[in-house]
Order: sequence, then structure tokens, then C-alpha cells
Amino acid sequence: MSRHGGSGTEEVRRNAHADWDRWPVEDYLEENYRRLYACDAAVIRHHSAYCRPLPAGSVAEALELGCGPNLYPLMILAAASGRIDAVEPGAAGYAYLRRQLHHGPEASWQPFYDLCRRLNPALPASLSTALERVRPLHGDVSQVRQYRYGLGSMTFVAESVTEDGAEFAALCRAFLGCIRPGGGVLAAFMENMPSYRIGEGPLWPAFPVDAPAVREVFAPHTDRLVVRRVPKDPALPDYGHTGMLLLSGTRRSDADVPQLVIGSR
Ligand SMILES: C[S@@+](CC[C@H](N)C(=O)[O-])C[C@H]1O[C@@H](n2cnc3c(N)ncnc32)[C@H](O)[C@@H]1O
Repeated sequence: MSRHGGSGTEEVRRNAHADWDRWPVEDYLEENYRRLYACDAAVIRHHSAYCRPLPAGSVAEALELGCGPNLYPLMILAAASGRIDAVEPGAAGYAYLRRQLHHGPEASWQPFYDLCRRLNPALPASLSTALERVRPLHGDVSQVRQYRYGLGSMTFVAESVTEDGAEFAALCRAFLGCIRPGGGVLAAFMENMPSYRIGEGPLWPAFPVDAPAVREVFAPHTDRLVVRRVPKDPALPDYGHTGMLLLSGTRRSDADVPQLVIGSR
């Protein structure tokens, strides 16, 4: 099957075909998070506007799915959340996360936190204190308990981990399945990104999505769904994407979100 379901010869690379343990953390950080790009500031502004009205500690358990080495979604969730589960299947990303939590965050994260705190003054004075409520969990979405979280966030995951459109949709539904009915939903996607390389490394699988494709997957299971587009940031490395998509909503109470088994490597 071809990558979009046709009969071409190009093989579709699914989530289980990539070795997430070998995610190139240092190169990824260097390319994306050693400085605060305007596109990430846009994600922070969008997600912070959603989280700021939530009373401090009002969400007992929040989820960041496929967290990798990115600390800024955790910062955004910190004021509203009693605990944040940072779920990551890749060994390298998980190890980085643990180091940041146990030995203190690298200084390069401070500008991200300064912005988060300007946008939500309910955040603690220090980033280290904000991160005390984060619990790193080594696993993938299929290992997360369904209907558990009062607020869930997924940042550049479902579209960046498979070339298969059906699997992209299944990953999004599995993410939604982790969130309690009535719970908050936040997500960010690369827009129209094909499979990509980090540095000179191997090709990682991706499925190009636009706003209608994202809406189509989330709309049946989400109330107050809003998908906004952020134009491409020319300063960011060119991954072949055309911008970013930012999603907010509420997990629909009557939705029947099926449990997903992603498959084994
Ligand atoms: C493009 S990276 C994004 C990392 C991070 N969330 C960020 O904002 O930079 C995709 C992440 O999804 C993780 N991932 C891959 N397959 C997954 C799955 N089935 N469930 C949860 N996370 C997955 C990868 O290990 C990787 O950390």
C-alpha cells in the first residue's frame, strides 16, 4: 500500500516501524528548543490562554502525551494541575526528561518559562518548582489508562510519528480516550509536514495534515472545538511543513472513543 492508501509501491511506515528509543534528543533540542522561536511562543500563548482561567490545582491529573524532551507544555499545564503525567515511549527522550526533573532544567528553558509565567502569573516563581508536579512515565499511548485525565495535551505527536493517515486518526482518538468526558483538550500539530530528518539522521515518519483533517478527527469527540493556524516560522528549520495547527476543546461527554492498540515493534 502507498502512504496515502493507494496502490503505489512506496511502503507506508507506521508508528511501530520507527525506533523511538533512538530519537536524537540533542540534535532535536538544538534545532528546535535551544532558543524560543516565534512559532513556539504562539503555541505557549494559545495554550496559556486556555489554562489561565482554570483555578490553581483544579485539575487533579493532567497528561502530556509523547512529551519527548520538550518541557514547555509541562510549564503551561503546571498552574492548573495537581500532577502532570509526562508519557514518553522513547528511551532517550524519557532519560532526558528524568534528568531535567531530577537535576534541574537546563538554562535554555528559562526564556520559555518566563513567557509562560508572564502569560499566567499563577505559575510558581521558579521553573524547578513548577516541574515538581511532573511525573515521567515510560510508555506509549496504548499504555495510558482510558478516561483518566481532567486535561490532556499532545504536542507534535500524532502527525509526526506515522505515515499512515488511519493511524494518525487512531492516535488522536487514543489521546482523546485518555481524557475524562468534560476534560480539557489541547494539541499542536505541524501542518502538512512530510516524513522528516533531524540533522543528518534517519527519516522519521509523518503524515501531512491540514486544519480540515484535524477537525474531521476531533469533531465527533470534542465540544467547543477550535483549530487555529500559525503561519510557518521562517527561523525554524525547514521540515517541509507549511505552519502549525493549534487545537483546543473539551472532551465530549457522550463520545464513544474506542481504546486503541497501536501494535508492537
Ligand atoms: C516529534 S516528537 C515531539 C516531541 C515533543 N512532544 C515536542 O513537542 O517536541 C514525537 C514524540 O512522540 C513520541 N511517540 C512516538 N510514538 C508514540 C506513541 N505511540 N505514543 C506516544 N508517544 C509517541 C516520540 O517518542 C517522540 O518523543
